[in-house]
Amino acid sequence: MNYKNSKFYVENISIGKLTRSFQTPFYCYSKLRLNQNIKNFYKNFEKTKPLICFSVKSNSNSKLLKIIKDNGLGADVVSIGELQKVLKVGFKPNKIVFSGVGKTSSELNFAIKKKILLINIESESELKNIINLSKNKKTVVNVGIRLNPNVNAQTIGKISTGRMQDKFGLTFKDAIKIIDKYKNSNSIRFKCLSVHIGSQILSNAPYQKMIRVVNNFLEKVSVNFEYVDFGGGMGIDYSSNKKTFDFKKLALEIHKFSERNECKIILEPGRSIIGDTAVLISKVIYIKESPTKDFIILDAGMNDLIRPALYNAKHMIIPAIKSSKKSKKEYDFVGPICETSDRFLKMKKFQRLNEGEIVILKDVGAYGYVLSSNYNVRPMPKEVLVDKSKTQIISKRQSIKDLI
Ligand code: LLP
Repeated sequence: MNYKNSKFYVENISIGKLTRSFQTPFYCYSKLRLNQNIKNFYKNFEKTKPLICFSVKSNSNSKLLKIIKDNGLGADVVSIGELQKVLKVGFKPNKIVFSGVGKTSSELNFAIKKKILLINIESESELKNIINLSKNKKTVVNVGIRLNPNVNAQTIGKISTGRMQDKFGLTFKDAIKIIDKYKNSNSIRFKCLSVHIGSQILSNAPYQKMIRVVNNFLEKVSVNFEYVDFGGGMGIDYSSNKKTFDFKKLALEIHKFSERNECKIILEPGRSIIGDTAVLISKVIYIKESPTKDFIILDAGMNDLIRPALYNAKHMIIPAIKSSKKSKKEYDFVGPICETSDRFLKMKKFQRLNEGEIVILKDVGAYGYVLSSNYNVRPMPKEVLVDKSKTQIISKRQSIKDLI
């Protein structure tokens, strides 16, 4: 995704062609970028050969999931809906892990029936429930136990998961107690130790701390785990300041870890696989001048992309066609929704825009479309996939009729 002769392109398709074919706002993905990201991920971890389970919560479009599955990845799911979806797409049950603090009995029953690789438990109550359910079925269920390592991932508080105050996982002490209490159960087998400390992590230090805690835990615990699941969380560069996550360093540490502990590794990346594969293409409806800045009112709103409103996340905005005329005033890019938080980004020295022009919000592949909603009775946008010179609608825009 880049400019050719000042015009934005997704692979071989120009922005002009895209906006003539599809009504804005819409998500547009590059298949090439997705395949490249997956290839790079494999390459970074080639020594360890982990089972890479794509975190489906970050993007659950079936066509994209199929590409991911065809590249050999497994899936990390957090609901029966995601589980049914990945099974339908064709992911093999022995490459599926199921996480989440509140799996209901019907979700667990379904997962047990499908014999997925792991159910990662997050509380003693959940484990007791699984034991009861598996007794009825006379099967042995493979479980992972999720440890809360009490590590600060140094990311946005709202997406941190591995601190004591977060709802996820079991404390060091409780995890040891539970393993001792249930390790001889005939209904479950502790097959995996799992941790996940948060998302959009850009520094290696929290991972190093997490690995230290896990090493320490494995020394104290009385079972041998076949797998250690380190979750996901590796961040991407949203700001174009080239602060990227050091995958090589993490891969080396994880490799050392797996040799020392003689265990297989699972990783659950979402954002680092899908985040930079998509843009949200939107039109400027109106420009409203104010004394201090101009409001650039887009046809995309917080119902299409909620990350800026919810997490103060910054998605770079770029023009569809570059020009050299700079605006003297600051631009405040906002949506049409009746909420002050329906705003994307403030930018200075942006090129001068006109009403009707197209702009592009970058890096919206992860937690973009999946978090969109019908707020203000607005239809959810369409998703388009570009593969070289071809485009394909991979989810239709809802119609107003669908909503009423
Ligand atoms: N594994 C588990 C258990 C998780 O909870 C998550 C994300 C992942 C893997 C994938 O993490 P990733 O590699 O994508 O960072 N909606 C927020 C992010 C929430 C992340 C939730 N858990 C956002 O838009 O930033």
